[in-house]
This record gives sequence, C-alpha cells and structure tokens, in this order.
Amino acid sequence: MRVLVTAGPTREALDPVRYLTNRSSGKMGYAMADAFARAGHRVLLVSGPTVLAVPDGVDFVPIESAAEMFDAVQRHIGRMDAAVFAAAVADSRPVEVCDHKIKKTGETLTLELVRTADILGAVRGGFGFTGTLVGFAAETRDLEANAKEKLKRKGCDLVIANDVSKPGIGFDSDRNEVLLVFPDHVEALPEDEKHHLAPRIVREIERIAAERGT
Ligand code: PMT
Repeated sequence: MRVLVTAGPTREALDPVRYLTNRSSGKMGYAMADAFARAGHRVLLVSGPTVLAVPDGVDFVPIESAAEMFDAVQRHIGRMDAAVFAAAVADSRPVEVCDHKIKKTGETLTLELVRTADILGAVRGGFGFTGTLVGFAAETRDLEANAKEKLKRKGCDLVIANDVSKPGIGFDSDRNEVLLVFPDHVEALPEDEKHHLAPRIVREIERIAAERGT
C-alpha cells in the first residue's frame, strides 16, 4: 500500500520569533510510519517540527503550520491507498501575524484567533479520498463516545482514541494506551510502548484495507 501519515505538532506564528503550538513529540506518528515501512508499505510522512529521525525508507515532507500540512495532504493524498492522521494540528491560529516582534506595551496582551481548516475532515468530501482513512482522537473524557462521533463525522474506517489526560501516555511519551474504534466494534489495547502498539495497529489497517479492496 501507499500510506500517508501525519505526525507531530503544528506551529502557528504570532510574529517572526513566537508561535502557538502543543506538546506533541511526533513519537506516535513516527512509530506508525516506521511500522508501515517495516511491513513493506510505501510511506509518506507529513510532519510538523520534531527532534525525531525520519524512519528508514520513509519519504518525508516537513511542514510548520496547519495550513502547510493541509496543502501537503491535499497535494499527495490522491496517490495514497491509506492515510493515518496522528498529528496534533492546531485548531486555531492568530488572525494576524505581525511582521515585527511584538513589543511589551502593557500588562495584558489580547490575541485574536481563528479556526484552522480541519484536514482530516476535508479528506473524504473536500479531497475526494476513497482509500482507507484512519484518524486519532485526543480526548480527556468520554473517550469512546467522542471517538465514535469523530469516526462518523469524518468518514473514518478506524479512530484510534487516547486519553491525553492520563499521565505517562499520549503526548510526549514513549508509551500509549489506545481504544480502537471501528464502525461496528471497539477494542482496547493495553498500555505499551508506541513502537509495540504501532505494528499491531498497522495489521488492523491492513485488514480493513483488504476488506475494502483498497
Ligand atoms: O506526538 P506524540 O507526543 O507521540 O503524541 C501522540 C498524540 C497524542 C498527538 C496522538 O496519539 C494523537 O492523539 N493525535 C491526534 C491529536 C489530535 O489533534 O486529536 P483531535 O482529537 O484534536 O483531532 C482528531 C483528528 O483530526 C486527528 O486525527 C487529527 O490529526 C485531525 N485533525 C485535527 C485538527 C485539524 N485541524 N486537522 C486535523 O487533521
């Protein structure tokens, strides 16, 4: 299969030296890209800034902002058989990016933010993708219900839900504990290294793709 994987955080610029971002390290997405490559698939990794090495045999598109990730996914997804969205994309960005470093003018600073485009949400309708589509859901409560809602709303074949309020898993950790939410059933994978979970998840995605004939 040809597989696109998104990973890492995005950076939304405020001025030439500052940006809004989140705690994603990219470890989950890079583990998925590595596991797909080791299983013999052709992988394109679209990633925000991380300190990780690109896994062997994986093609790489570095991006910074949500808008750049949107453009990269739009450009490449037509050639893919499957796509896995592990990136923690900023949901909003500053309305205005100042050309010069923002000066300290008072005790408070008010930022106006605007929503970024939902990349995963654009894949089925906007980009017309018909391959196997896998999203992640980063939740702090109602894990299963929220993941089921995302699965339906974004037209996914599988949503991998993680509780990002639990210490030791999720963001910026080597470990994760995930709930695999399929259209007709749910399966919990016990806490493990991301590098051990990823091959297990890849096998599920291979099974879905074989059933779909993609
Ligand atoms: O990178 P690590 O430190 O290893 O951490 C891993 C992780 C916690 C980031 C990862 O396991 C994870 O949960 N990734 C998804 C994070 C997220 O933004 O989830 P969400 O529930 O807000 O978004 C739902 C889905 O829509 C995700 O597949 C996300 O990639 C996608 N999305 C969200 C917003 C947006 N503007 N565009 C998107 O494509």
